[in-house]
Amino acid sequence: MGTQAAISARGVTKSFGRLQVLDNLDLDIPSGVTYCLLGPNGSGKTTFIRAIVRLLRLDGGEMKVLGRPVSEVNEIYSQIGYMTQHKALYPDLTVQENMEFYAGLYGLAKQKRVERIEELLRMVDLLEHRGRLAGALSGGMYQRLSLACTLIHEPELLLLDEPTVGVDPRLRQTFWDYFDRLAGEGKTVLITTHIMDEAEKCQRVGYMRAGRMAAQGSPEEILRLAGLKPVLRLWLAEPEKDAALLRAEGYEIDIDDGVVQVRLESHALIKEILAAVSPLDMRLAEPRLEEAFLRLSEAA
Ligand SMILES: Nc1ncnc2c1ncn2[C@@H]1O[C@H](COP(=O)(O)OP(=O)(O)O)[C@@H](O)[C@H]1O
Ligand SMILES: [Mg+2]
Repeated sequence: MGTQAAISARGVTKSFGRLQVLDNLDLDIPSGVTYCLLGPNGSGKTTFIRAIVRLLRLDGGEMKVLGRPVSEVNEIYSQIGYMTQHKALYPDLTVQENMEFYAGLYGLAKQKRVERIEELLRMVDLLEHRGRLAGALSGGMYQRLSLACTLIHEPELLLLDEPTVGVDPRLRQTFWDYFDRLAGEGKTVLITTHIMDEAEKCQRVGYMRAGRMAAQGSPEEILRLAGLKPVLRLWLAEPEKDAALLRAEGYEIDIDDGVVQVRLESHALIKEILAAVSPLDMRLAEPRLEEAFLRLSEAA
């Protein structure tokens, strides 16, 4: 696991003609975590991933990948698994044959190969479809096979560009459990997505906007950065009276349609609030990352 960053980028820039896609980007991805790179379409996520594996050259800045300068990244390709946003499998090979091909490419020994293929096809729920042609798979199945192929050589660093597009929620959960397991083993999993719920599942999140990092940290840190707090909603017999009482104690209160809402600095305060008032009913609303990013991108 170690303290070394899996990826560190400092002042990274890239333009296509007059379009600046990466704009003095700083980004650190510690090793042994699941890291979610979020951002609207065109914000530069794919460009950044392509720069990591040097499919494109940066105009400026510094980047290190698994401790090596990015100019030497080709020497550590065997430690990297990259799943692109585009179709990268052989359409006229079967599911099994595609897996065999990737296993062969990375020189997996026969016994290991059989085990790995079995394990991964089970994980992505394609065991029963191993004889189907890749070109005849549905979008979601194709995506699952791509992921399985990307994982075949047990890479230290996984770069997954929108891996869950078209994958159903149940299987998506399986993917996430697997990613967590890999991170637990010290591997680094970088995922791009535009699905906020998925970002909440990552240990760290970075929000990219117009080629820069608008915010990065753990989901909790990002919520704090955006100034979002949990809200306790209280249904009270005498809302005005109790609201005044709580205000006098220094709480930040709103009344919405007769429901008293308290913005909580910490969850521990719930106990104190309940010592002061006796609600008929109550509900706790946790802040969502989506709202945090909206706020942060408005502020940027
Ligand atoms: N090879 C290229 N040539 C010209 N423009 C490009 C190229 N690759 C990406 N772009 C442009 O760079 C911007 C960022 O693209 P991309 O990194 O794919 O964003 P994201 O993955 O966040 O959607 C887009 O405006 C895209 O059109
Ligand atoms: Mg992209």
